[in-house]
Amino acid sequence: MEPFPIPVVCDCDPGHDDAIMLLLAKASPRLRVLAVTTSCGNQTIEKTTWNARRICTLLGLEAPIAMGAAKPLCGQPITAPNIHGQSGLDGPRLPEPRLPLSALTAVELTAKVISECSEPVTIISTGPLTNTACFLLAHPELKPRIRQISLMGGGLAHGNWTPAAEFNILVDPEAADIVFRSGVPILMSGLDVTLKALITEADIARIRAIGGEISRVTAEWLDYFYVFHKGIGYAGAPLHDPCAAAVLIRPELFDIRPMHVEIETGGEFCRGATVGALPGVEDEYAPNVRCVMGLDREGFVDLLCEAVASYGY
Ligand code: BDR
Ligand code: CA
Repeated sequence: MEPFPIPVVCDCDPGHDDAIMLLLAKASPRLRVLAVTTSCGNQTIEKTTWNARRICTLLGLEAPIAMGAAKPLCGQPITAPNIHGQSGLDGPRLPEPRLPLSALTAVELTAKVISECSEPVTIISTGPLTNTACFLLAHPELKPRIRQISLMGGGLAHGNWTPAAEFNILVDPEAADIVFRSGVPILMSGLDVTLKALITEADIARIRAIGGEISRVTAEWLDYFYVFHKGIGYAGAPLHDPCAAAVLIRPELFDIRPMHVEIETGGEFCRGATVGALPGVEDEYAPNVRCVMGLDREGFVDLLCEAVASYGY
């Protein structure tokens, strides 16, 4: 196990579950957030960046924040107002941003903090992989300074935006392909695990009962996410993005397997699919990913409650 605290850059497209990823990352003494960068995904880059600044203000997360690319590498943005609302983070009122936006781009800020850090840095990516791919292309000399990329994206069994593709990978499959072929260690939390990270009404009541501003806002974000997912037949709200932080904080809660995974960038039906080698086939291909397949759900909920309680307001 690597020594704590792990220095991290959080690249995200907030988004309710991205917000809870940031909440976990800020709360944990096992992570040290060096920077927050934004991607276009759940909403436009302007909206996700505004949301990131509001969330960091609420959480007292004082890391520099930089805006990422406005579009995927190829094609046009896909957004998710059906899930996250017109603002990208509908629900509770949030404070106006107190923290400034960096004059650097997401790629420039990532390069700066990774160059300046005395240890290799982990990138937590919970949106489309556009910024991370651009960073790897622009700064190949910094690859050895990346400890790993812990990402939420993909799903070996199926998608959630098309039958084959998960949202973050579908938005920018070319970027995902660059990242998965980069040789940088990848820890992939796809739908295989995140659809098991379900938050129930009882869990939300437990978070609300903690009391204070962070508890109230988190419970209201979860209410919003829960109602949408309940409406489309889920048994609870799947906390996709927090898995990418939780697996670094408490790896023992997760079932992780080495695997070879390819990104489908073409295809009539399967663009954006993450294609994993099953046992038998896997012998032919070297693993390029550590794939997170399951979790101790109760332990994950306990971690979330501890994080909320740790804010003390
Ligand atoms: C992913 O899509 C986004 O809507 C969520 O924030 C998460 O990153 C799940 O497919
Ligand atoms: Ca996200």
